[in-house]
Amino acid sequence: MTSAAAAPERAWRDLIEVSRLEKGDVTPVSLGTRDLAVYDGAGGITVSHARCTHGAANLCDGYFDGRRIECPLHQGLFDARSGAALASPARRPLRMIQARVHDGMVQVLL
Ligand code: FES
Repeated sequence: MTSAAAAPERAWRDLIEVSRLEKGDVTPVSLGTRDLAVYDGAGGITVSHARCTHGAANLCDGYFDGRRIECPLHQGLFDARSGAALASPARRPLRMIQARVHDGMVQVLL
């Protein structure tokens, strides 16, 4: 008997052109069924799942100060680089997605 099927390989996928990002802000982007948030912050471009880990809010509707994203529903606060939850009621970190810029395109590793 053979072992279970191998996991699908991860690959860099184009997400959005850098020129289409909201400069210094957060941009909503859908990739398949995933709703993502792309942060153009002081430390560079980072990407997370858009849904707040506390509830159903979309973080793309929140306030981004260049480093932290504040949830629009209960004002939970997250570090947009590490995903760490910084302020209650947010307790679980954001699901970050590895990202890079390649030839003017934001790419994510999925
Ligand atoms: S839904 Fe985001 S802090 Fe509650």
